[in-house]
Order: sequence, then C-alpha cells, then structure tokens
Amino acid sequence: MHVQEDHTIPLVLELKGTTVMGNHKLFAVVLLCCLIAVVAAMPAEHVELVQDGEAVSTYLVHVAYSHSPRATRNTARLTRAYNSFLRDTLPTGMNAPAPSILYSYAHAMTGFAARLTARQAAHLEAQPSVLAVIPDRLYELHTTLSSSFLGLTPSSPLMMESNSATDIVIGVIDTGIYPKDRASFAADPSMTPPPRTFRGGCVSTPDFNATEYCNNKLVGAKFFQQGQLAMASRSPLDVTGHGTHCASIAAGAPVPNANLFGFGQGTAKGTASGARIASYNVCGGGCTSSDIVAGINEAIADRVDVLSISIGVSATPTRLLNDPMMTALFRAVRESIFVSTSAGNYGPRKATVRNLAPWVCTVGASTMNREFRATVVLGNEKIYTGYSLYSGRDPYGKMKPLVYSGDAGSLGCEAGKLEPSKVKGKIVLCAGGGAAQGLAVKQAGGVGAIIASSAANGEYTRADAHLLPAVSVTYADAVEILKYSRTPDPNASISYFRTVTGFVNPPSPRLASTSGRGPNLVAPEILKPDIIAPGVQILAAWTGEVSPSKLDMDPRRVKFNIISGTSMAAPQVSGIAALLKVARPQWSPAAIKSAMMTTAYNVDNFVDVITDMSTGKAAGPFQIGAGHVDPNRALDPGLVYDADEDDYISFLCALGYTPKIVAIFTGGSEVEDICSKRQAIAVGDHNYPAFSVAFKSYDEKVTQRRVVRNVGSNVNAVYTFSYLALPIGWSAIVNTSKLVFDAEHQNLGYTVTFSLIKSAASKSSQTEAHSALVWTDGKHKVVSPIVLTWPTTTAAMAVM
Ligand SMILES: *[C@@H]1O[C@H](CO)[C@@H](O)[C@H](O)[C@H]1NC(C)=O
Ligand SMILES: *[C@@H]1O[C@H](CO)[C@@H](O)[C@H](O)[C@H]1NC(C)=O
Ligand SMILES: *[C@@H]1O[C@H](CO)[C@@H](O)[C@H](O)[C@H]1NC(C)=O
Repeated sequence: MHVQEDHTIPLVLELKGTTVMGNHKLFAVVLLCCLIAVVAAMPAEHVELVQDGEAVSTYLVHVAYSHSPRATRNTARLTRAYNSFLRDTLPTGMNAPAPSILYSYAHAMTGFAARLTARQAAHLEAQPSVLAVIPDRLYELHTTLSSSFLGLTPSSPLMMESNSATDIVIGVIDTGIYPKDRASFAADPSMTPPPRTFRGGCVSTPDFNATEYCNNKLVGAKFFQQGQLAMASRSPLDVTGHGTHCASIAAGAPVPNANLFGFGQGTAKGTASGARIASYNVCGGGCTSSDIVAGINEAIADRVDVLSISIGVSATPTRLLNDPMMTALFRAVRESIFVSTSAGNYGPRKATVRNLAPWVCTVGASTMNREFRATVVLGNEKIYTGYSLYSGRDPYGKMKPLVYSGDAGSLGCEAGKLEPSKVKGKIVLCAGGGAAQGLAVKQAGGVGAIIASSAANGEYTRADAHLLPAVSVTYADAVEILKYSRTPDPNASISYFRTVTGFVNPPSPRLASTSGRGPNLVAPEILKPDIIAPGVQILAAWTGEVSPSKLDMDPRRVKFNIISGTSMAAPQVSGIAALLKVARPQWSPAAIKSAMMTTAYNVDNFVDVITDMSTGKAAGPFQIGAGHVDPNRALDPGLVYDADEDDYISFLCALGYTPKIVAIFTGGSEVEDICSKRQAIAVGDHNYPAFSVAFKSYDEKVTQRRVVRNVGSNVNAVYTFSYLALPIGWSAIVNTSKLVFDAEHQNLGYTVTFSLIKSAASKSSQTEAHSALVWTDGKHKVVSPIVLTWPTTTAAMAVM
C-alpha cells in the first residue's frame, strides 16, 4: 500500500560528537525493525504450503496464444479448459499433488494462476505452449480541499466541459470499499444509471449487502482473494480504510461539513465527484500479483474507463516482466483505459519509484496550502512548529517535565518498554514513530509525546490522530529538543493551532520526502515519476472497521480520515483523467497523460521552483516528473505526444525483449517476428512527453525522436522552441527551427540530439542536469522536462 503509515520505523537520533545510546542497544532497535519487516513480508514472498510432502506455491502461467482457449467472461469454462491443459501437459509422475487453479485470465493476461510445486512449474515453463511462469509476488499499498487547490471550482473550464464526468466509471483496484453510512458513496436521486457500456456490478457477501450498498454512484464491488494464504476478508468490504479513502478522493460525492475531529473542516469532494466507482478488492490480507491481475482482468471485462491503483510491487523490479501488474495494465491501456498509479513512498532515496511502464501514469505526492499545526515550547523559550491530528483535551501550553525516550528505557517508544517511573507525568521525546508510539507513552503514564521525524525526511513530518497530546517534529528540531532534554530540569509544553490554510509559509506545493524518486531502473529513458498531485494530509472517507490511527486499542470510529502518501495522489489524477475523458473523448490514455505533463507547473505559491522537503532545495524531474498537475490547463495543451499499442510494442522490442516475451504483454502470436521491423527504434525514441538520457560516456551523442499532434483550435499553428534554464555542460540540438502545422499535417516529427560538453561536465561534481524543452505558438506552452545523467568517476568514463 502506498500509505505513509505503513513505513513506521523507529529512528535513532544522534547528537554530534556524542552517542545517544550504546551500540548494543542500537543494534537491537535495528534488528527489531528488520524482524518486523521480514514477518510482514512472509505471507506473500514465501507463499508456500506443503501438500503430500512437496511445497506448493502460486505461479502466474502465461499461455501461448495458439494454445489458449477462446477468450470469454465465463471463467468456469476457462478454468475447465486450463485444467485439461494441465492434465495434458504434466506427465503422470508429476501430477501429484494436483495443481489447483486460482484464477483463469482472458483480459489482463492469457493464462492462469495456480498453486504448483517447483517441479511442476519448471516443467510447464519448458513447454512451447507456455510463454513464462512467474512466481506470485507481494505488492504493497502506497496512502478536501484538494478540488479547490487543483482549481476545480464549478466555473473552471474543465468542470464546465466535463459535466463532472458522470458517464465515466473509475475502477479502484485496492482494499475494497466501505459504503455503509458513507455519504461519499451515496447516489444523488438525480443520478442516472451508469453508462450502458459498463458491464460490471456488485456481489453480496455476509458482510456486504449489494442491494443496500450499491447504487448509481457505487456501481461495482467485487473481491479477488484467492492468492492469499493468510486470513482474507473475502468480501468487497474494506476493513483497512485505504480503498475507501482512495475511491472517495477520485470520485466521492460532495459531503458538506466533512472533517476529522474538526480538522480539515469543509466540503469533502472527489476530483471527479460525478463519476461512478467500481471497487475491486484485491488486498484481503496483503496484495498478491495473482489477485491484482484478477482484479484488473475483471475491470477490463467490466469496461471501466479509468483505473486508479495505489499499489506497487514490494521490491524495486528490474524487469517489467517481473511486475505482473504492469503486464496486465498493458492490456487495460490497449482498451483505452487510463491508468493512474502511485509512485510509492520509498523516497527520498534515488531509484525508489514504482510502476515504471510508459503506459501508466505514475504519480508522486505533494503538499497543499493547509497544515495541521502544533507547537512545542521548551523551558528555554525556544519554539518549534510540528504537526498533529490530536483531538482530545488541549493542554493549552501547560509546562511539563521533558524526557528523551532513549533515557527512559525504549528509544523507539515501544509499547510496554518505556519505564513508567521515568515517564510518568512527563512529555516524552520519541526517536521516531507515529500514533503507536504516542499510545505507548500514554500507557506508561506520560502526558505528552514529541515524535522525531527521520533525518532523510528533512522538512517533512507526519500528522497522526494521536490518543494523547502529541506532535511530530523534524529531525533537526528533534536534535535540539534532545540536547535541551539533557539539561537540568528540562520542561516543555505542546499547544495546538489545528487547521491553518491559505497563503502561509512554508510555500506549497512541496514534494513529500517519501514520494518515490527516479531514475527508472527498468528503462532509464522513460522518466518516472510522471507528475505530482496532492498526497499529503488528505481528508477523505474512511472505513468503520478500524480507528483513524489504525491502532486496535483506539476505540474511535470516524467517517473521514486524514492520511498521506502517493496512494492519495494517484486517485486525484484518476479523477482528472475522468474529467478529461469527457471533455476530450477522442484522446487516448497517452494523449491525456501528455496533456497533463506538458501543462504541469513547476513553481510554488511563492513563485519559486517547487522544493523537495527532504532537502529544502529545488526539485528536478527525478523528484517531481513534469511537475504539479494543472487540470484546467491540461484541457488545452496545444500539442500532444501520443502513443498506442504499436508504440508500446516497439518500446518492448527496444528493451531487448524477444517476440515470446512481447507476446506475454500483447497476448498475440509468439512466433511472429514482431521486433525485426522495429530494429531502428530505440527506447529513447518512445514518444514520451519527457526526455531522459543516461550517458555512458562524454563523447556520446544521443538522438531521440518525437512526434507531436496539434490538438489546438488553430490547425495552422506554428510552433517554435526554446529551452528553460539550459545548464552549462551539455547541448541539445533540435533538427528543425519550426513546426508548421496545417490541415493535412496535424502530426509533425522532430529529433533532439543531446551531448555533453566534456570540459564542463567532467569538471562538475554533479552527475545529473536538467532543463526543459518548450514549444510555443504564442498561445500554448508545451513543456517537456529533460534530465541527463552521466557516470560519476573518470574511471567509470574511461571504461566506456
Ligand atoms: C439487503 O438489503 C435489502 C435492502 O435494504 C434488504 O431488503 C435485504 O433483506 C438485505 N439482505 C440481507 C441478506 O440482509
Ligand atoms: C521550566 O523550566 C524553566 C527553566 O528551568 C523554569 O524557569 C520554569 O520555571 C519551568 N517552568 C515550569 C512551569 O516548571
Ligand atoms: C526532423 O526529424 C523528424 C523525425 O525524424 C523528421 O520527421 C523531420 O522531417 C525532420 N525535420 C527536418 C527539418 O529535417
């Protein structure tokens, strides 16, 4: 799940020159984190059962087109066909334990998911009728003001031209949905039935009454939980909150007076508030690729218009083939479904971005002009601003003794480990964590908690729905508070400012430190992330099954919750895509993405370049892609960089994939030599609205081709180009000075040749530079980010 909450790791604070704790203890903390991570990863990375003495696990079996049954929605028939395929393919000595088919797929892939022994899997893979056998793997979830922050007021151009996207169905592949008593998913009586193209619907289970919950707003609710071995909910009902939150961000109906304990008070409204929601629960007790592919398979068959997926593979993939969600989404995009995915929350380290295929839109998370502030005042009169969603009795700045968790028995403020004698009646500075750490302080008798963020997070801190007066502060502030806590009789107080909105310092938007970063390890020439959108402290609908803090001990239940992550950013873009699909029905998913990228903005409300909260410095394309989405400008981009299935096939061939592997994506013939006629096309020639060049040597010249289509109102538009802030050290030469469009020539090509200027680049300590190529006709500005990288050391260059 791409939600912030899921990545709580206690962090060690260090004072310069002094060690806050013995190495021995430090090791224990580190070990504990790893242990938790390993345990959490167990169920899916080692999906193994023992049957008849042999271990079985789940595999996705890609079957060659010529051996596959006819595509049908009748899954029983497909499964019968694949069962006989297995009987025919496995020799007698190998048919025990009998393989069991979990899913048969015809839309998102050609083949099936089955529990097999390693021997059975290897035998299948060796057959000419089988293209590949991929082990099932673990995916993770990534986590209302946003409409007005995005400029989507009722009178805005996009809203006027899209009728709130009432004829669009947004499929949400996530943890299901919680519609009971949630106005975000209620149908306005004026709402007509869903568009006739939609073939989906709702299923009932003991805890999900489709007759009662589904309506003209919530038009689909299904679940796919065969891949789970752990206890799964086996229902469309969302018991975690993530899916409910994401669905309401994309298309929740307007709900006045929405708030979390008064925080973020206002009308909560999905980006495409008139669009329909079809929910596919693929994460009962974890998210596995077999379930996710099943959900996508169903959504394609149901004919949704947009897919919103705030999920990513748990470990950075190095090949697209090993990311079954990406292979399945190839077919979704081929059916003209726009797919918005989250960039993941594994930043700020490089190359942490997830969802790397060019056919999906990969969205990073940024802030809005709203903060939930609290302040810490120390006995030395120093004041620090932090964030909190604490809603209980306000301590009104009452001074209390202060103690550091490392001096009170548990650096990580773990439940049951803090020493009550050292904590009672005090405010505890915890070396990291969230609501769970606050609860541990409360249970040990503490009266308040100050939670340190990690050093890597820079200016970024969390805001949690704490059960005692608590506040999260930056690492830098925590270090000062820690120093002060070691002085005689330290004391501190916490006060709450609650919701602060409007034109406030710090500026907005800023990039969340945790938002996934480029470069793209699968294809460095394809810039990822593509774009950023609001994903920090987003108010949206919540499940009634868990508390806002997600702690079992927390009895509170809320209709709205405030959480952060790229998970929250992706559905904003899904909603915008829904609006654009209505306003520009002729645009392909790639054209919609291009329009959003080339019109994105790069400056904050102080007219400075958008900053990265991890460093406080200007963010570049590897951090924010093309920039922050601007829905109204995306309506009229002037030019678009389009791409279709044929372009994606060329891209796959250019990656070096064989026709057999390409057939896994397309479902087409594996014997046709699909790649040879595309030999001249390089990965960098893929018609992307961004340029990314990874130089291997200083002498290299790299040329990339592009084709733009004029979608502006003037068919005779003439575009000229310029560069934005051309850095010293490299050059980029466009093969033409003008693009002259007319009625016959709506598509025009150009090339850019990039080269490094050795004398400048080799002297620079940098290994990366960025700029932007801008085409303009005087009315439109079509901006494509450019990012260049080169090896670090002269030794590395010498090897080239
Ligand atoms: C489901 O809801 C409908 C409409 O409220 C009701 O008539 C029906 O009895 C419910 N079904 C079950 C199994 O509770
Ligand atoms: C807090 O500490 C400061 C400095 O030690 C002291 O002057 C002040 O009186 C203390 N306040 C309270 C309320 O104890
Ligand atoms: C520039 O390159 C594009 C793509 O190869 C080509 O279509 C176009 O004709 C070239 N323009 C000129 C002026 O050579």
